[in-house]
Amino acid sequence: MSNIFPKAAITGHPVAHSRSPLIHGYWLKKHGLAGEYGRVDVAPETAEAFYRNFSASGLIGANVTVPHKETAAASCDWLDEAARTMGAANTLWLDESGKLCGANTDGLGFLGNLDQLSPDWDNAPGTALVLGAGGAARAIVWALLSRKFTTVHIVNRTQEKAQRIADEFGSKTIAHGWEKLGKLLEEADLLVNTTSLGMTGKPPLEIDLAPLPTTALVTDIVYVPLETDLLKNAAARGNPTVDGLGMLLHQAVPGFERWFGVRPEVDDTLRALILEDLGVSA
Ligand code: ATR
Repeated sequence: MSNIFPKAAITGHPVAHSRSPLIHGYWLKKHGLAGEYGRVDVAPETAEAFYRNFSASGLIGANVTVPHKETAAASCDWLDEAARTMGAANTLWLDESGKLCGANTDGLGFLGNLDQLSPDWDNAPGTALVLGAGGAARAIVWALLSRKFTTVHIVNRTQEKAQRIADEFGSKTIAHGWEKLGKLLEEADLLVNTTSLGMTGKPPLEIDLAPLPTTALVTDIVYVPLETDLLKNAAARGNPTVDGLGMLLHQAVPGFERWFGVRPEVDDTLRALILEDLGVSA
């Protein structure tokens, strides 16, 4: 068995456009490691069986993307705190006894990106304002609470979805509709867009940033375009900004370390490689 390369893959449906093979392939090459990282398209009707019998796949671990993160989590024998809290796993590995373990690294990816590009961003964690209430928003709210933000406001078009996240995370998280945005901007130390608005091909994110203190850090999980209108407008009025590409790159770090035994770095060459593949200019 020892001559067989450890193999991992991105699993989900679809997976054809996933950048994960490029990210892990870059790190495998950089570290001169014998390993492979591929793509496995898991049709929805076979997902439960696939994750339940994961050891039969020949993979030592995997990333999981939509729409299977919940199914994967439900199939795991062990989950880390983030995956347990979210009921969704994006990183899987088999332990020594063959048990399937799952983690959710989306929140860590968010934190890793800000830690790298805006050191000290959470030195005095205050009030965060999160736009959107999908899966990414949940991971980010979890991440912000882990860094001791005192209040996390969640603003969403469908307020009930924001309320569901707030109910889950407790009294520091408060749900609102869009009409409250102006008032909430006044007290924000951090503004995060987790909606798909502003992405190429989607409607614009139209926000009047005037009430936002110019000291507030503004970040976007959209990375196509790399500099969204939100980031452009924020930078033009003097706010510090961080783009969303690093979240994608940093969420991949824990899986690579698990599977291949080296903790990889998110470096400029990797950023440039992914940007080139996305056809996005830095
Ligand atoms: P993910 O799981 O990747 O975060 P998602 O669940 O599709 O993605 O969430 C997308 C987010 O963008 C949601 O908060 C969505 O708002 P709703 O919950 O009201 O659907 C938000 N969004 C998408 N299109 C929007 C639009 N045109 N106006 C306002 N919000 C929008």
